[in-house]
Amino acid sequence: MCGIVGYIGPDQAADVLLAGLRRLAYRGYDSAGITVVGDEALRTVKRAGKLDRLEAAVRETPLVGTIGIGHTRWATHGAPTETNAHPHSDCTGRISIVHNGIIENYQALKAELEAQGHVFTSDTDTEVLAHLIEREFKGDLAEAVRNALRLVEGSYAMAVVSQDAPGVLVVARQHSPLIIGHGPDAYYVASDVPALLHRTRRVTYLNDGDIARLTRDGVSLWGKDGSPRAPQIVTITWDVSAAEKGGYRHFMAKEMHEQPSALVDTLRGRLPASDQAAILSELEMTREELQKVGQVILIGCGTAYHACLVGEFALEELAGVPARAAMASELRYRDALITRDTLAVVISQSGETADTLAAMNRVKEMGARVLAITNVVGSSVDRAADKAIHTNAGPEIAVASTKAYTTQLSMLFMLALAFGEARGHLVPERARELRAAMRNLPEQAAQALAQEDVVNACASRFRGAHGALFLGRGANYPTALEGALKLKEVSYIHAQGYAAGEMKHGPIALVTPECPTVAVAVPGRVYDKMLSNMQEVRARGGPIIAVGVEGDHDLESYADAVIRVPRTEEVFSPLLAVLPLQLLAYACAVDRGLDVDQPRNLAKSVTVE
Ligand code: AGP
Repeated sequence: MCGIVGYIGPDQAADVLLAGLRRLAYRGYDSAGITVVGDEALRTVKRAGKLDRLEAAVRETPLVGTIGIGHTRWATHGAPTETNAHPHSDCTGRISIVHNGIIENYQALKAELEAQGHVFTSDTDTEVLAHLIEREFKGDLAEAVRNALRLVEGSYAMAVVSQDAPGVLVVARQHSPLIIGHGPDAYYVASDVPALLHRTRRVTYLNDGDIARLTRDGVSLWGKDGSPRAPQIVTITWDVSAAEKGGYRHFMAKEMHEQPSALVDTLRGRLPASDQAAILSELEMTREELQKVGQVILIGCGTAYHACLVGEFALEELAGVPARAAMASELRYRDALITRDTLAVVISQSGETADTLAAMNRVKEMGARVLAITNVVGSSVDRAADKAIHTNAGPEIAVASTKAYTTQLSMLFMLALAFGEARGHLVPERARELRAAMRNLPEQAAQALAQEDVVNACASRFRGAHGALFLGRGANYPTALEGALKLKEVSYIHAQGYAAGEMKHGPIALVTPECPTVAVAVPGRVYDKMLSNMQEVRARGGPIIAVGVEGDHDLESYADAVIRVPRTEEVFSPLLAVLPLQLLAYACAVDRGLDVDQPRNLAKSVTVE
């Protein structure tokens, strides 16, 4: 999730662009850059690291001009270096472009362009756009952009300027947000409202397929079918703080509701529409190598450890490969049975968790091959792994991890599918069914997240609670643990996640009317056992909130309240069942008036032991 800005007006563009980028820093900032169109040439300054490094560089290299574009990067392809920072240019240096999104077919396009003599300087997918526009440019920049984008598959919000198109700034949008700001005597471009609110509240939200040309005289806009249309202008009423949260009260709420789009972005290009085998190019493991893996050990902390537990179940279920989850803080001090045929899957949103890094280094020393699943390109975990799969969830600001967790699960499901198909554990027809079910998950997640009224009503049951129990079995035992962790860390209510079958071995002593129980009771091989466990709790006066699927009306007789999620494959159900539990934890924290995004005693990334 990068941030782009653009400006055309009477003021010096550099100042306007930097002010806009400062207001987009929450979208990620591993590098940044701006291009200003001068009288003689385009001038570009870019730096790795945070924005203040770019601002210092611009102070040393004054950029004169009143048209420009800028970018703050959250790397998805290519390490966060100065070379990979945006803006990117073509061979001649007369075209400069910034982009937020993922060009899925960039490798094929890059090979074609290189064969035609184009010389690339970065590892990014974005640079392909600059060279495509260079090749298509015949004097009309908007036309060149339109022709170039016809060849592109993927997502983009982009802005481009050219020395050969003076006084013109062209933008385009597909799947990544982009808005145009209409000032009294200037026009602005931004990924998000906060970047331009200090200049104007009158904006046009571009639609997928839109291309627009901005000049000092106005905005020309063409829709997906190429037909011109008048820009629809709306007035923003939010303040800046609300705008950074997308209008939500907290980052946690924004990030919970970003999960459907984060899943789309994470699965993009990895789960093709046609019935091909699951593509995990980052894995770079041949069929034979996948077959030779003797065991998989999944390593993480906190929520990432819970993802490891989901992965353990999925790998055994779909791939028939021995798998076990390990808490990094424990594994780092154990003589774990790591052999050369061990694949270590290291999961970390931040990629900087000290315990996870230590455990990772230990298993590497013992000969394991390491695959990372991380949300931060260029993080320590990313760089230390043999291979890495990036969850394209965008920056996760709230301490409580939500969209990182569900996108981690989606990648673990893809990994299990890849293993299952390579090892012949999944027959083609079953693999096709599972891939079809995966394609539905983003939309189903959106449906599951639309339960706030029901969830808020359930949250009132936790007022005055002496504690809470979260019960789950099989695929959803980790869901119970994750639900309990979410409630603990944002609402400070003591909550225990437990394997429901273990209740009779002690925890059932905790059951009282003041101790609500949340039971994950979605269809699966242990559904009936879950109903029995719920009866055990109810018989002792414990209030029960059940998470079940739409259409399952038996649950009403086993629970005091039921929150419903769409039906999916049992092995995928943890991804949907966790969503109401996230909402519940959030509702309880808000109900208690707590600092939801920054809970006491906690840090977003635990970089110390
Ligand atoms: C989850 O909500 C917590 N913030 C915490 O458990 C977190 O998952 C854990 O610290 C691991 O962080 P990582 O994924 O960045 O390694």
